[in-house]
Formats: sequence, structure tokens, C-alpha cells
Amino acid sequence: MRVGVFDSGIGGLSVLKSVLEARLFAEVIYYGDTARVPYGPKDQITIERFSLEALDFFKPHQIDLLIVACNTVSAWALPAMRARTDMPIVGVIEPGVLAITQDTPKNASILVLGTNATISSGRYERELKTQGYTSIKSLATGLFVPLIEEGILQGPLLEACMHHYFQDLQNAPDVVVLGCTHFPLIISSLQGYFTHYFKHACKFVHSGNAIVRHLQEHHHLSPLSNPPKVRFFASGDVVMLKAQAKAWLGLEQM
Ligand code: DGL
Repeated sequence: MRVGVFDSGIGGLSVLKSVLEARLFAEVIYYGDTARVPYGPKDQITIERFSLEALDFFKPHQIDLLIVACNTVSAWALPAMRARTDMPIVGVIEPGVLAITQDTPKNASILVLGTNATISSGRYERELKTQGYTSIKSLATGLFVPLIEEGILQGPLLEACMHHYFQDLQNAPDVVVLGCTHFPLIISSLQGYFTHYFKHACKFVHSGNAIVRHLQEHHHLSPLSNPPKVRFFASGDVVMLKAQAKAWLGLEQM
């Protein structure tokens, strides 16, 4: 089975990591729209248009399934994409919420971090409320995305950015939902910040493992014996994407 993984940039690598570890596919085509990242500050019509263009990108590659490894696209463009094709398209929000419900008590305080577009869609908050959670705070932290795209995963600039977003938080949450696939790339810095300022070890949740669980359960996929072949494509600088993939995933074959 050949699968496509799509993100606005390098954030989908955090989902790709889990997908590769699970060895569910023989071949993976990764596409990052790096020329137009970030999607987070854009409006629904633009996000839909870019996502449909990504769908066109995958056409000649004849993939069997598409993983939308982007919360922003998952929040706004899945219906438009699904209307264009019969191929199964899996987004990250639904499996992510499901994963939270599987191991988080209903009285937990939850902080959802995401791009402006994801947070303004209210998707996480709505779905978590439907599942019985009441203590939910959402915070748009979109500035992390360009920093991560620049390869800034730690250090004073990121510290200043975290302080800008988190300084007004009154209490430490029990669970921090990384509702943007870029954010797991800075998970060590985020964990360090929360531990330092709140003296509290929060649990961090992201979509990678949730997607794998979803694929195993809903698409009846089981591990293959050989590691998948991975190819990387980008609308912008593919060299930078491959360098990040190598650093983040330790991938040699590209
Ligand atoms: N990685 C994406 C997400 O999960 C998009 C970030 C962006 O392009 O702003 O939302």
C-alpha cells in the first residue's frame, strides 16, 4: 500500500515518525507545501484551495490513502477534499481526540495549543466537550510554526515566544494537547518550560500515535516486515525538508 502524508511544511514529520515506526505501509510519499507555510493565519477558502492543490499533487503518485498530517487542514478542508476523491483521507483531529479520551480522566484540565485557524475552528474544544470534558482552555500559538520551519527548536528566541504565549496562564494544565503537528518538534522545550514555571509535570499528547492506532483499528492495517520506502517532495526547498527529516527521523534513504 502506498500512502501520502501531507502537511503545510515540516510538521507532518512528527506524524510520519509514528507511521514509519509502525511499518504499516510499503511506500510513503511526503509532501510539504513549504513555499506557502504557514497555513495557520490563513482563511478557510485559502486553506481549502491549497489543500485541493495538494490533492492534485498526489494524483500522479497513485496513492491508496492520504494522511492529512496537519490540524489546520483537518479543521477546515477535509469535506472539500473528500468531495473531490473516493480515496480515503484521514485527518488528525478525530483520532487525536479519541486518543485523549482513552487515557485522560474527565476531570482533567486540558490546554489545547494550535494555530489560529485550528483554535478558531473550535474543533478540539467542541469534540472534547462532547466527550464529557469541562475544563478546556485553547490557545493559538501560531508563531511557533515559522520558528520550527527555520529549525529553531530551542534557545532564547523560542523561550521568549513561549513566555509571550504562556505568561498569563494561571494554573498548570494536567494535559497539553499539541494540536499542531509542528509542535512535537519542540516538545522538549515545551516540557522544560512547563516544568520550570509551573513545577508540574504535564502530560503532552500529539497526533502521531493516535493516527497509527486509528489506521490499525479502522483500516485494518498491520505491521510489514520491511521498513517503508519514503520519498519527500515540497513546493519550496526540498533540501531543507530532507535535512529536517534526517535530523528528526534519522532517515538515510531519500
Ligand atoms: N502543522 C500544521 C498544523 O498541524 C500547520 C501549521 C501551519 O501551517 O500554520 O496545524
